[in-house]
Amino acid sequence: MPKATLLVVDDEALIRWSLTERLHAEGYDVLEAETGKAALEKLPEGVDLVLLDYRLPDTDGLTVLRQIKEFDQDVLVILLTAYASVDTAVEAMKQGAYHFANKPFDLDQVAAIVERALETTRLRREVRQYRSNAARPYSLQRLVGEAYAIKALRSLIARVAASPASTVLLTGESGTGKDLVAKIIHYASDRASRPFMNITSSALPEQLLESELFGHERGAFTDARFQKKGLLEIADGGTVFLDEISEMTPGLQAKLLRFLEEKSFKRVGGSHDVCVDVRVVAATNRNLEVEVARHRFRSDLFFRLNVLPIALPPLRARPDDIPLLVEYFIDSFNTEFRKQVQGATSAAHAVLRGYGWPGNVRELRNVIERAMLLSDGDRLDACDFTVSSRTVVADDDFELPAAGVDLEMLERSLVAQALERSGGNQTKAGTFLGLNRDQISYRIEKFGLKAAVPSDLNGPAQE
Ligand SMILES: Nc1ncnc2c1ncn2[C@@H]1O[C@H](COP(=O)(O)OP(=O)(O)OP(=O)(O)O)[C@@H](O)[C@H]1O
Ligand SMILES: [Mg+2]
Repeated sequence: MPKATLLVVDDEALIRWSLTERLHAEGYDVLEAETGKAALEKLPEGVDLVLLDYRLPDTDGLTVLRQIKEFDQDVLVILLTAYASVDTAVEAMKQGAYHFANKPFDLDQVAAIVERALETTRLRREVRQYRSNAARPYSLQRLVGEAYAIKALRSLIARVAASPASTVLLTGESGTGKDLVAKIIHYASDRASRPFMNITSSALPEQLLESELFGHERGAFTDARFQKKGLLEIADGGTVFLDEISEMTPGLQAKLLRFLEEKSFKRVGGSHDVCVDVRVVAATNRNLEVEVARHRFRSDLFFRLNVLPIALPPLRARPDDIPLLVEYFIDSFNTEFRKQVQGATSAAHAVLRGYGWPGNVRELRNVIERAMLLSDGDRLDACDFTVSSRTVVADDDFELPAAGVDLEMLERSLVAQALERSGGNQTKAGTFLGLNRDQISYRIEKFGLKAAVPSDLNGPAQE
């Protein structure tokens, strides 16, 4: 626990000195102030407890007490006075003083009161912290990682959450944390007390998806025996997460665009407009620009969604975060499985770091879960993991040439080589690079390597 900082406020130098000496000896950091004004100026230095004289040259203790509490409710105040009256004591306690002591005081007694007071706040803070974590399971801290890209991501998410933006687009490979980020955005925003609704575009046929999203009127179709509110209406004031947005049919894309632009929609079979205030967070693991180029996704909807894009980096782009995530998941599974695994050995860390993680954080989480279920050791070891044989590139094997590289060119060349080696089979080429079929086909397209690929050689889609 860090040292507590105390502030002694008294215009008498001797009293300040004796209190400071004594409390310093108890191991506290002690600041001093002669006047009420000086005391308030010291608060931003991070004061935990104030020993406050009632009679001050410029003001009185009750006024300062009130100002301290306005500054920070958690700062403890012990009033010291030679002129105690029951009324002032009662007033001081009402205003949140922790204790009211008479001068002259006994230094031992003051030290004991200070210790007790600090212990109470420590516990109070801990419980509050615990409660707020429990109430907000999707705080920004849930996004584990210290890589520059993740730090930048956390700061972007915080700004987006606090902004009035009505649409956000999350992009990133499968398992990079799009669901997680959508929830974090919701719970960090002032929409947190309103609903978070979630729907996957690919999970339902068009008609059903439309009525799930927009609701329907009674009689709108054969089975519509009652009027039903859609997710957009239910989530009014909150957030709707539209996952796999690239899979939405053109008809629905048009309706969604209209809603995003006008903030209103008609229920299926309805004739009047329903207005709602909803933030739409859309997500995709495809490259929407490519989908637009292939005429599979409306460009106007793409531009509307792409006002606030948030790109989640693949795990292999931030290998230093792997050990952190490993320990994080061990910790969470310890709680879930009531285990006491003490972490992973350095050999295990080396294996996990060397792997390419095509399934990103989800794959890592699953690998740790499996190892935790099967292992009896008090630390996870290399042999608890089966990923080593599938190692794509141990990141230390590549040394950056002195003159640097053109990363785009290098990537293009690696994709071309993988295609050549697999005889044009995209799925197989992907396995050489730790990429799934979507990821490799996106790169083939991006680098214009399509002509090199005889289409009948492509294996079945993965996933
Ligand atoms: N940075 C992170 N820190 C902690 N946990 C993470 C992080 N990123 C992802 N996860 C966890 O990894 C798992 C997969 O993440 P999530 O479901 O959000 O991925 P996704 O991008 O939505 O994937 P998909 O495209 O397949 O839907 C979840 O359990 C999530 O909590
Ligand atoms: Mg997801």
